[in-house]
Amino acid sequence: MKRLPDKAPPNFEVRVVPDLTALAEAAAKEFASAARDAIDNRGRFTVALAGGSTPRALHQRLTRQPYRKEIDWKRVLFFWGDERCVPPTHERSNYRMARETLLDPLKIADANVFRMDAEREPPRAAAAAYEAVLRAQFSDAKRFPRLDFALMGIGSDGHTASLFPASPALAEKRKWAVSTPAPDGKERRITLTYPVFNATRRVVFLVSGQDKSGPVSKIVKKERGYRKLPASGIQPLRGSQLWLLDESAASKL
Ligand code: 6PG
Repeated sequence: MKRLPDKAPPNFEVRVVPDLTALAEAAAKEFASAARDAIDNRGRFTVALAGGSTPRALHQRLTRQPYRKEIDWKRVLFFWGDERCVPPTHERSNYRMARETLLDPLKIADANVFRMDAEREPPRAAAAAYEAVLRAQFSDAKRFPRLDFALMGIGSDGHTASLFPASPALAEKRKWAVSTPAPDGKERRITLTYPVFNATRRVVFLVSGQDKSGPVSKIVKKERGYRKLPASGIQPLRGSQLWLLDESAASKL
């Protein structure tokens, strides 16, 4: 186990596992444990899924035993941390990836799935509409909803969800979701904002691959300029975060 620098905050844990298979297993255990705790204590488990490709391995692991049977899926409510502004059938849709790898295989009821209507025009209306969806499901929220679990990824530029470097979205302190351009020049995005992610009970970063080792090392070791990397702004105030890394992503620690 790699030692964290002593100054790491108590609610920040890094765990290194050999490869993507081990990463999916470790994340599935975390998901199941958080689900059991939330359902036992609050009768439901609210989770924000991540986009990109890394979560596929976790999704597929959750559809197999023991998690398929162990988790009370009818009490799990699915949200998204971010979405591309494309139709839900588009190959770049985070929703489509989750539907294919997790929701359909587990036969999750539509009533438990809260998709970002990201193809809605204009994008800022899509963001406002998603905030309304969240408000309906977190009607007891004072300022921000308290999700039980958020899965997050990190890009090689240090972005997370669709919070990109130097983006105005990083400064959003009031809205629950905003629309933002993506630096790759592709479709715009809808993303939850820092206040929502930072109100979450448990944030788990799922990181695989050498191309992430730079931003991972910079953030974990708080190297010069790490605050410019948006993933460093994920700091659950009354929660905890776990960075699950495979050895290639952790190779610079
Ligand atoms: C997205 C994601 C994004 C993703 C990272 C890592 O919509 O693309 O939310 O933040 O988590 O880019 O993506 P990979 O898992 O594909 O490396």
